[in-house]
Amino acid sequence: MKNNYTLEVKNLQVWYEDQQVLKQISVKIPKGKITALIGASGSGKSTFLRSLNRILETNPVVKIDGLVKIGGQKIYEPTTDLIELRRKVGMVFQSPTPFPKSIYENVAFGLKVAGVKPNQSKKPWWQIFEQKRTANEIENSEDFMDKVVVNSLKEAALWKEVKDRLHTSALKLSGGQQQRLCIARAIAVQPEILLLDEPCSALDPISTKKIEELLLKLSDKYTIVIVTHNLHQAKRISDHIGFFHLGEMIEFGESQYIFEKPEQKLTKEYVGGHFG
Ligand SMILES: Nc1ncnc2c1ncn2[C@@H]1O[C@H](COP(=O)(O)OP(=O)(O)O)[C@@H](O)[C@H]1O
Ligand SMILES: [Mg+2]
Repeated sequence: MKNNYTLEVKNLQVWYEDQQVLKQISVKIPKGKITALIGASGSGKSTFLRSLNRILETNPVVKIDGLVKIGGQKIYEPTTDLIELRRKVGMVFQSPTPFPKSIYENVAFGLKVAGVKPNQSKKPWWQIFEQKRTANEIENSEDFMDKVVVNSLKEAALWKEVKDRLHTSALKLSGGQQQRLCIARAIAVQPEILLLDEPCSALDPISTKKIEELLLKLSDKYTIVIVTHNLHQAKRISDHIGFFHLGEMIEFGESQYIFEKPEQKLTKEYVGGHFG
């Protein structure tokens, strides 16, 4: 039988120093869907998300126990290639984090890390980036890297807005555009899973709507896990919801049930807006 779960977590526990912040979390996150993680601030949502691509352990005081499987592979095995894992499991943070480089370079970044060379080529990177080619030239280029940059920007619904300034600094974009650029950068390396940690919390309602529409579109192709403190957002975009409370995943289920007929009293109180 085909495995429809992209992500399986079993008895996951996390400590910061001696403080246990995730307690025995077990969940299966369905493939090609949007899962929203909700819960009060400090309940462990970010910690959980960051355990899924092992970015969590960049903090030396963290201790992790339990099992995380992605597409059947146990990611906490010592043989796991972390660069490959983080390619497969891309991440977008709360405040947009473009590099202080051109828009083009931001999207091409992951390919560069993966060792892809522009123009199959002998040309050094700086030469490619210094050529101020027009949008037309880049869009019609046969070069692999150009194709990836153009397609990723299109997929992230940003191409039209930035095509005539691909060589200018990404830091000049608005917050909402920067966030879509970070999504373009993540999808340029063909991930399977996209993790987003409150990606809209610093954005205005129009940019938020654009990101939500984008995520709905991308969920055809990617498994998306998004932390959000916005219950309306969770309702609008998610297929499934995991509710966190004090380091436990109290309930996981289809969004409609979580909102209309949750099994747990705590979930009911939270989605009813009684605390949080
Ligand atoms: N880097 C850290 N060092 C120590 N404790 C942390 C760190 N990050 C988070 N915590 C603690 O872990 C718990 C869960 O935090 P977090 O995962 O950020 O929750 P959420 O994303 O739901 O707000 C909180 O008690 C928080 O104070
Ligand atoms: Mg958080």
